[in-house]
Amino acid sequence: MKKLAIIGCGAIGAVVATAVDNGVVEAELLYLMDLDLRKAEKLASLLSTQKPTVTSNVAEIACDPRVELVVEAASQEAVLQYAKQILESGKELVVMSVGALLHPEARGLVERYWKRIHVPSGAIAGIDAIKAMTLTGVESVELVTRKHPRKLVDEPYVKNKGLRLDHLLEPVVVFEGTAEEAVSAFPRTLNVAAALTLYSRTLARVKVVADPSSELNVHEIRVKSKAGTLFVRVENVPHPDNSKTSYLAALSVVKLLQELCNG
Ligand SMILES: NC(=O)c1ccc[n+]([C@@H]2O[C@H](COP(=O)([O-])OP(=O)(O)OC[C@H]3O[C@@H](n4cnc5c(N)ncnc54)[C@H](O)[C@@H]3O)[C@@H](O)[C@H]2O)c1
Repeated sequence: MKKLAIIGCGAIGAVVATAVDNGVVEAELLYLMDLDLRKAEKLASLLSTQKPTVTSNVAEIACDPRVELVVEAASQEAVLQYAKQILESGKELVVMSVGALLHPEARGLVERYWKRIHVPSGAIAGIDAIKAMTLTGVESVELVTRKHPRKLVDEPYVKNKGLRLDHLLEPVVVFEGTAEEAVSAFPRTLNVAAALTLYSRTLARVKVVADPSSELNVHEIRVKSKAGTLFVRVENVPHPDNSKTSYLAALSVVKLLQELCNG
């Protein structure tokens, strides 16, 4: 049975730990790590079949030869701080904070260790076709992300620009740029732009729309290649146990872990 560690004990970390605990993912959970130890302790206390060690020190995980797979569900900073040590110690790494992989400091790691880095499809679909399209060369990748203004007001980009989104009556484009720019501007919500870029090997162009009529988080993707044009629209509903995260994104990491762990 594969031995796991989870870094980040928030919404996604809890979904993953629970999936291991109830046997949906066939693995043994050896560590729960969080900067906030209380969060890791609380999550550990909710598990019944798994007895993970709680830690705030990544070296404990990286130096434990039993750990085969680490699931990062923390933040872009966590990926930039810990990925090197984890990958250099020979372990596999599932990255949720995918935006970090577009940072210049992570480029070398991606090139060197891509085979051991696993990126879930998250809140989007069509990755299988996009991967196939790279064989003929992808011409362009466009992502339009549509969210209710209330879900954008706490984003660093919106705050730094002093954008007033509270009384919008019509959809407004609040951001246009590359995926690299998007993951810095919206570090928590535009992981899909990074996943698209990594899988298509083409820097995605991204538009973020504040749409007062959109209660769901919607991602529209258009990929052009010699093999045809792909158009995908995903309307994401919140996770039933934690409205902070998208149901599909949580399911996608559990599915990926089943593929990596279940016999
Ligand atoms: N790829 C996707 O489709 C997708 C979907 C949802 C969330 N995410 C990403 O996954 C990450 C986790 O999401 P969430 O909703 O569970 O967040 P969350 O805020 O609920 O939980 C994050 C946890 O990680 C901890 N943490 C943050 N930085 C850390 C660090 N450097 N070291 C150790 N612990 C640290 C926090 O204390 C917190 O407990 C976020 O970066 C989010 O953007 C990606």
